[in-house]
Amino acid sequence: MRILTINDFDTKGKTVFLRVDMNCPIDPVTMEIIETSRIRESTESLKDLEGAKVVIGSHQGRVGNKDYTGMEKHAKVLEQILGRKIKYIEDVIGSEAQREIKNMKDGDIILLDNLRLCAEENYEFSSSDASKTIMVQRLSKLFDICVLDSFPSSHRSHPSIIGFAHVLPSCAGKLVEREVRKLDEIMTVAKGPHVVVLGGSKVVDRLEAIKELIQNGRADQVLLTGVIANVFLRAQGRIKFPLGIKREEEVVSKAHALIGEYPDVFSVPVDIAVERNGKREEMDVREISKGEQIFDLGPKSVDYYLKSIQSAGTVFMSGPAGFFENENFKFGTESLLRGVANSFATTIVSGGHLTAALKRYGLAEKINHISTAGGALVLYLTGVKLPMIQALEEAATRYRSK
Ligand code: 3PG
Repeated sequence: MRILTINDFDTKGKTVFLRVDMNCPIDPVTMEIIETSRIRESTESLKDLEGAKVVIGSHQGRVGNKDYTGMEKHAKVLEQILGRKIKYIEDVIGSEAQREIKNMKDGDIILLDNLRLCAEENYEFSSSDASKTIMVQRLSKLFDICVLDSFPSSHRSHPSIIGFAHVLPSCAGKLVEREVRKLDEIMTVAKGPHVVVLGGSKVVDRLEAIKELIQNGRADQVLLTGVIANVFLRAQGRIKFPLGIKREEEVVSKAHALIGEYPDVFSVPVDIAVERNGKREEMDVREISKGEQIFDLGPKSVDYYLKSIQSAGTVFMSGPAGFFENENFKFGTESLLRGVANSFATTIVSGGHLTAALKRYGLAEKINHISTAGGALVLYLTGVKLPMIQALEEAATRYRSK
């Protein structure tokens, strides 16, 4: 590997910054964490960091979004998983955080608050500029080593992801190491046709990545589900009313341009399911009424999508096809996952929701690679070098040339 791993360092007695991604789905009403697999994954590197003083940093949600919250609940889940006490600090770069880090003893673990509380963590930088942010300047003095293990956010050029790595000896954590090895292995044998089943709610990010995927030969067919499918349906005029999503006109016009440029690549649902009087009701997509929410794919769409999946050489599925947590609307997500699991293709499934769904349906063993990463994985598959991986490669070159 071109990047260093934890085994390249003697971390005993050292103060280590461990950047993980504990960004979990949060219930918008109770603000409780709904699904914890990313927190569990975040503990993988800790076994190899025994005897070090470990300062964990993560973000949760985006400023202004409903899932933006502090890390207190994550600390509790982390303690349950590890079966030991960790120290949660309601601070990121202030004097409290600095004092607590300085007072750590070997074997201590601290969890900092949401890194996005620090304004700088919400902006993209070059690695040299990221290293000049106040976050990196203040905290890097207290750390000996930086371990980057937040694969799901490896596509972000934020200070905690690329800034510390510019000034500290840095390596990949266990999760990043495993993802990079496995994905490199898969991508060297991946064969066409490449079928991408794309859902999820981060529409702006997905639209940017789709074009790259198509242009780089990684998406011969794109089967759309979820909010992004609705955007394309609006662009085609099959849904005639606004969807009420962020930057709607901009994304609809981008979708329109993509359909024009690649008319044979995209498939959208022909039938869907909504909730009427507490029950599932299926209909042609043009029959949906204003204000109704699409909760699932209908059977015709699922059949059509399954045919494509069966003839694929490689399938990449990201984002659930509906509100699968509700029994009435799990049909699309479960059927497509079963189709992917039973296909002869090389299969990659991505995102926290689908990871949970695969476990729920007992299908995880049948998938070649499962990743809790969403947008980062989509970008990785386009062939674009992710900022975190770039930062790790540069850090390895610097370290080896010393
Ligand atoms: C994700 O869930 O995709 C990562 O945690 C990155 O989150 P972001 O899209 O808010 O940067």
